[in-house]
Formats: sequence, C-alpha cells, structure tokens
Amino acid sequence: MAFEDRYGPWALITGASAGIGAEFARQIAARGIHVALVARRRERLEALADDLAQQHGVRTLAIAADLTADHFLDDILAALGTRHVGLLVNNAGTGFTGEFLDHELDDELKLLALNCRAPLILAHHFGNRMRNDRRGGIIMLASIAGLVPTPMFAHYSATKAWNRFLGEGLHEELARDGVDVVSLCPGLTESEFFEHANVDPSGWPAPMRATIMSAEDVVRAGLKGLGKHSQVVPGLSYRWLMRASRLSPGSLSPWLIDRAMRFALPKKPASN
Ligand SMILES: NC(=O)c1ccc[n+]([C@@H]2O[C@H](COP(=O)([O-])OP(=O)(O)OC[C@H]3O[C@@H](n4cnc5c(N)ncnc54)[C@H](OP(=O)(O)O)[C@@H]3O)[C@@H](O)[C@H]2O)c1
Repeated sequence: MAFEDRYGPWALITGASAGIGAEFARQIAARGIHVALVARRRERLEALADDLAQQHGVRTLAIAADLTADHFLDDILAALGTRHVGLLVNNAGTGFTGEFLDHELDDELKLLALNCRAPLILAHHFGNRMRNDRRGGIIMLASIAGLVPTPMFAHYSATKAWNRFLGEGLHEELARDGVDVVSLCPGLTESEFFEHANVDPSGWPAPMRATIMSAEDVVRAGLKGLGKHSQVVPGLSYRWLMRASRLSPGSLSPWLIDRAMRFALPKKPASN
C-alpha cells in the first residue's frame, strides 16, 4: 500500500515548530499527506504550514497548544474538527542536563508531562481510531539516552526509555490491527534541543562533534523504519555505540557516561 494510503489523509506532528518535528512535517508533506502542526509558537507553525502548502500542494493546519496543559487534547481535537489522522508523530519533547537534585521539582514534573503524559494521551486517542480503521502509524520519539541510563541527564533518559518501551510494546500489540508503531532513537541531532538542555557542543573534541546528525537524516531513517521495525537508531556510529554498550558489564556504561557527561557539560562555578 502506498505511504499516502497507509498513513493519510492527515498526519499530526507535535513539536513541529523546530528541529526534528519541523523536518517530519517537511518530509511527510513531501509524501503527499496533509499536516497538522502542533507546538506553542503559533507564528512559526503558520509560516511552516504556508511553506508546505505552497511547495507540496497539501492542506495544512497550525495548532498552537501547550502539551503540558491539562486539557490539551480537547484543544487539538477542536482544531482538527473532522480531519482524519492516519499518522501520529509524538515528537515534542525537551530535556535538561545537570544534577537531578539541582533542578526544581516543578520543572521535572513539566518534563514528565511533556515527554510522557502527552504522547501517552495522544497515542491512546489516535491509536483507538487507527485500530478501528485497521491502518495507521505512530512514531514515538525516544533517544539513545533511552537505551542506556544516562547520569547527568537521568530524568530525561528515563522519559525516553519510557517512550521507547511504549513504542516497542505497541509495535507488537497493534501489528495485528494493521497499525504500525516505531520507536525512533536518535543520537545527537541538530536542533534547538542543545540550547534547552544546556549543552554547548562548540567546545567538544572534533570526533564527538562529528557524531551530530542532521534532522533530515534522522527523520528519513524514522520514516523508512515505520512499518518495518519496532526500533530505529539512525546513524552507523550510534548503532555501534549501542552494540558496544550492550557488551559492557551492566554497571560500566552508566559509570562511563557519567564521566563523559561531566566532561562535556558546562562546568558549574565553584561554590565557596
Ligand atoms: N536533538 C537531539 O539531539 C535529540 C536526540 C534524541 C531525541 N531527541 C528528541 O527529539 C524530539 C524533538 O526534539 P528536537 O531535537 O527537535 O528539539 P527542539 O528543536 O527543541 O524542538 C522541540 C519541539 O517541541 C516543542 N515543545 C516544547 N515544549 C512544548 C510544549 N510544552 N507544548 C508543545 N510543544 C512543545 C517545541 O515548540 P514550542 O517551543 O514552539 O512549543 C519544538 O517544536 C524530542 O522528543 C527529543 O527528546 C532529540
């Protein structure tokens, strides 16, 4: 079945105002599927929606919504009206590096709402519709940080493991209903994410910087894997890294990652 018939007529993409989500919107629209774009920054969504409608002749919809709000689903459904969603890209997410106990609990709870509660609610709502249709697709944005526990990024890493598990579990569960689910696990990817996460790759050694992938390559790998795999790790270097971490003794990976993260992150000013 053609991509458009399997996953059309509309795709709902969260976090489409920047980075990986905006790139999902571009590549999905290029495949002839209408796109509903969700994020908080309305002007950005509208500009992208206009571009995509012009370039690809698809219909577009910009939905300004805060996915941490209690009733965000009602706002999205009201904006969608009768538009039929055959592809859900659960992409919106953020993270902040540093010591877990130095972060405000309220910020961690917001992170949990954005990275876990929102994709859960959306997957449940649109998954039910897709199951009735006996077709459709769901892409869950996990991360390589969700494949191994990541000290100094511990809560983010846990939320991404959660997305990965939900996606991989649903892959098997919904396959019999004709619905494709994939967990996409990118490594470092060019986007606004680094800014929010307090990460500055400009001072990293060149081999480390060279592992940063483009959002274009990440999204291409994710769309290629949909309907084929339960998990996609874009980029050869990241696939090797994952294999190596599986071979290392259980406690070694977090130990090594802790050292690497403390080296890579901006240093805290020394306290007196
Ligand atoms: N970049 C990486 O290295 C990397 C690696 C692995 C996985 N990922 C995952 O990829 C996904 C996309 O991240 P990205 O790298 O593209 O980051 P990004 O450039 O910072 O984009 C994040 C998107 O999420 C939206 N968003 C943030 N808070 C929101 C809220 N409360 N309500 C609605 N939308 C919200 C942002 O839009 P507004 O600010 O306009 O709301 C933006 O569109 C995330 O799930 C991230 O965990 C990223």
